[in-house]
Amino acid sequence: MAKEPHSLHNKHHHANMFMKKKTTTSFLLWLLIVISFIWLLSLITTTPLKPQKDDHHNSTEPVMDTCDAYNGTWVRELYNKVVYTNATCPSLPESKNCAKYGKESEFLRWRWKPHGCDDVPRFDPTTFLDVVRGRRMAFVGDSVARNQMDSLLCLLSQVEIPIDVYKDAEDRFRTWHFQSHNFTLTMLWTQFLVEATERDINGSSSGGFDLRLDRIDANWSSKLRRIDSIIISSGHWFFRENYLYKGDKLVGCTFCSAPNVEGLGVTFAVRSAFRTAFKFLRSCDRREKKLLIVLRTFSPAHFENGAWNGGGHCNRTRPFSEEEMMSLSGINWEIRNAQVGEVERLKGSGEKFEVLDVTKAMLMRPDGHPGTHWNNEWMRGYSDCVHWCIPGPVDLWNELLLKVLIQNKTKRVVSVSE
Ligand SMILES: *[C@@H]1O[C@H](CO)[C@@H](O)[C@H](O)[C@H]1NC(C)=O
Ligand SMILES: *[C@@H]1O[C@H](CO)[C@@H](O)[C@H](O)[C@H]1NC(C)=O
Ligand SMILES: *[C@@H]1O[C@H](CO)[C@@H](O)[C@H](O)[C@H]1NC(C)=O
Ligand SMILES: *[C@@H]1O[C@H](CO)[C@@H](O)[C@H](O)[C@H]1NC(C)=O
Ligand SMILES: *[C@@H]1O[C@H](CO)[C@@H](O)[C@H](O)[C@H]1NC(C)=O
Ligand SMILES: *[C@@H]1O[C@H](CO)[C@@H](O)[C@H](O)[C@H]1NC(C)=O
Ligand SMILES: *[C@@H]1O[C@H](CO)[C@@H](O)[C@H](O)[C@H]1NC(C)=O
Ligand SMILES: *[C@@H]1O[C@H](CO)[C@@H](O)[C@H](O)[C@H]1NC(C)=O
Repeated sequence: MAKEPHSLHNKHHHANMFMKKKTTTSFLLWLLIVISFIWLLSLITTTPLKPQKDDHHNSTEPVMDTCDAYNGTWVRELYNKVVYTNATCPSLPESKNCAKYGKESEFLRWRWKPHGCDDVPRFDPTTFLDVVRGRRMAFVGDSVARNQMDSLLCLLSQVEIPIDVYKDAEDRFRTWHFQSHNFTLTMLWTQFLVEATERDINGSSSGGFDLRLDRIDANWSSKLRRIDSIIISSGHWFFRENYLYKGDKLVGCTFCSAPNVEGLGVTFAVRSAFRTAFKFLRSCDRREKKLLIVLRTFSPAHFENGAWNGGGHCNRTRPFSEEEMMSLSGINWEIRNAQVGEVERLKGSGEKFEVLDVTKAMLMRPDGHPGTHWNNEWMRGYSDCVHWCIPGPVDLWNELLLKVLIQNKTKRVVSVSE
């Protein structure tokens, strides 16, 4: 009986509540619509900052394509889906920060598409760190090797900022440590892989070198003791007036005009240097862990209308098609073939060699260099058509590297060592 008024009262109250609820509901509905609209808009116009996993590959399951992931073409993507931006990478070098210096982001909207096999999964930093847990990896090479390592640091720092363990005065030798995965990453700088001394002409440095093609550059070779994975590369410094020695004998020179010295091709010098480096690496004794050696093949430059110091530039805004790529100098392929040839000579050796063959993919990316899009005292007036913007197509190298590492971990019969 006391129920009635109560319930009446309640009803009244309820009605009020209902009125309130209705306005709240429609407000919430509106909010939802607005939020979804903004979210949709952001999908279309901006870059997602979170690492993206590829739809059809779960990251714990390695991709086991047997096809050639290094032969393909670049296809335009509807959206630019970079894993990081210049704002989310704390270690991005100024000279590769193309966005900051006004390069249009168009060049980020291209994805490498291998012919006849699955897409290379987008880089997943967590998967990478899981795969390299407890390992010590070194990049051996020049500033282009460093370029790949800087890309890798940007990619990995999306999940963990590494500790800076060591840095020399010139920032050529560097070590980082990713604590959560006990992963150590090291840069070992070398222009030629082999011993080199710059030639003085009348007391000033000439920019050319005396190369001891059969002697390893101890600056990197002496620092491998605890390293278990090496990504090795070289190439651009060979395009100079260099004098080539074997033993104490001068065997020839490149880009030279010296009388009575045989002019030899760059390819000869590169091949000899890699042979010496691989011979040394094979002699490295790893009792408990096999040494993994990854050759990163030659990464071409794209100067047009002149050399780097002769007004050359690279201002294209689209990748080359395969046909357009054919018009580029054959020297890029010659060097790449010489490098790969040196790995193939080692069939049956105890060490494990892999090839990270980036040459074709990068030949097709004249639009991926900093060019004039940075402003540095040292390079003022010059274009950088050698290194690669970060983020940029160089990130592909690390996607391919992850693929190589996963395959090495799961497949026992890989590459030439079996
Ligand atoms: C990935 O695939 C493997 C094998 O098919 C499966 O066992 C695992 O649960 C999957 N992981 C995720 C995160 O989907
Ligand atoms: C790459 O693929 C194209 C098209 O399928 C083919 O014509 C070409 O021979 C391949 N190149 C190499 C080096 O395998
Ligand atoms: C990143 O690039 C944008 C332009 O896209 C620029 O405005 C900004 O200053 C850059 N930020 C950093 C930290 O370099
Ligand atoms: C870290 O990895 C190194 C090998 O790179 C190993 O010697 C060491 O024991 C590991 N430390 C921990 C805490 O797991
Ligand atoms: C090794 O490092 C020393 C000291 O920095 C340098 O003088 C020398 O030229 C380097 N050697 C080579 C082959 O680069
Ligand atoms: C070195 O200096 C001498 C004397 O000043 C000069 O004759 C010679 O041409 C110079 N050599 C070069 C390569 O510049
Ligand atoms: C590239 O630079 C050249 C020479 O300065 C110029 O003629 C050309 O129009 C430029 N191309 C683009 C796409 O900006
Ligand atoms: C590569 O795989 C072999 C076994 O096939 C293993 O012994 C070695 O540790 C692996 N190396 C790396 C760097 O994963």
